Amino acid sequence: MMARFPIYRSRRLRRSERLRALVRETSIAPDDLIAPLFVTHQPGRHPVAAMPGVEQLSVEAAAEEAARLEDLGVGALLLFGIPEQKDARGSGAYAADGIVQRGVEAIKERVRDLIVVTDVCLCEYTDHGHCGLLTPEGEVDNDATLELLARSALSHAQAGADMVAPSDMMDGRVSAIRKALDGAGFSHLPIMSYAVKYASAFYGPFREAAGSAPQFGDRRGYQMDPANADEGLREARLDIEEGADIIMVKPALPYLDIISRVKRETGYPVAAYHVSGEYSMLKAAAERGWIDEERVLMESMLSIRRAGADLIITYYAAQLAANLGG
Ligand code: PBG
Repeated sequence: MMARFPIYRSRRLRRSERLRALVRETSIAPDDLIAPLFVTHQPGRHPVAAMPGVEQLSVEAAAEEAARLEDLGVGALLLFGIPEQKDARGSGAYAADGIVQRGVEAIKERVRDLIVVTDVCLCEYTDHGHCGLLTPEGEVDNDATLELLARSALSHAQAGADMVAPSDMMDGRVSAIRKALDGAGFSHLPIMSYAVKYASAFYGPFREAAGSAPQFGDRRGYQMDPANADEGLREARLDIEEGADIIMVKPALPYLDIISRVKRETGYPVAAYHVSGEYSMLKAAAERGWIDEERVLMESMLSIRRAGADLIITYYAAQLAANLGG
C-alpha cells in the first residue's frame, strides 16, 4: 500500500526534529557498543600512533579504563593482550598468568557488571605473527592449533571472562572451544565467533596496536576473500552448528551486505567490528578538518545498525557513549 503525491508527501514527517525522532527506525545506545582494549605488561599508557586516542594500557590502567567505560554505559569491552615474550607456540596466550588473564582479573575486580569479552587468537603471542602453529613447511597447521585455542579460551574463562571471541579463523575452533568450556563447568559462557572475517587491509593500524603483524606472508590462507559473500553465509552457519552464540562480521562498513544477509538468514545476534582502519580513516580526515567527525561517525554507526547488526565493536565506543549522554 502506497499513496502518491499529492496525497502522500514525504516531507510532512521531516519538518522538525521531534517528528523525525518519532518515526526514526534505527538508534544507537551505549549498551550496543563493545570497546576494544589493549593490555600490556609495561606500566602506564602508550599511545598507538596510527590510532589517535587509542592506547596500550598497563593492567592497572586497563582496570581504570574499564570502570570509565562502565560509567559511560558501554555494554562490554573486548580485551587483547601484548605479551612480554613471544614464541613459536604462542604460549603467552594460554598461560595462567598471561597478560589477558591478569587483565581480566584486575578488570573484574574493578567493575560491577560490565561484560568482559576476550579475544582468543595466537597471533599476538607467536614470534612468527600467524594465528596458529606452523608446520615445518611454514603453513598454518589447523588441527594442531585447535587444542591451543581451546586452552586459551578456557584460561580466559578461569580468569573470570564473561565471554570469549575466537578470531583466528581455524576450521573447527568453535566446536573445540565449546567442548573445552563445557567440560570444565563453563557451559553457560557464550562464544562470540569472528565467523565472517575477511583478509582485510583495514586491519593495518591494529597490527601496530597489538604488535601482531605476520613476519612473513599474509593471512589469506585462513581469512576470507573479500570477493565472497555466499561463503560468508556458510561460515556463519558452520559456527552456529558448532555452538557460536553471537556471529561477528568483520570489517563493518565495506561489508554491510554481509551483515544484512547474515542477520536475515540466520536470525542470530550479529556483531559488526568497525575495525582499526575504519577508525583511523575517520580520525585522519577529521584531524585535517575534511569531515565533521561526530556526524560522519553517527552516520557510519547508524548504517551498521540499519544493515542488521545488533552490536558494534568500535574504538569509538567511549566517545560515542559520551556523546549519547551515557
Ligand atoms: C587477531 C585480530 C585482528 C583483529 C582482531 N583480532 C588482526 C588480524 O586478523 O590481523 C583486527 C582488529 C582491527 O583491525 O581493529 N587475529
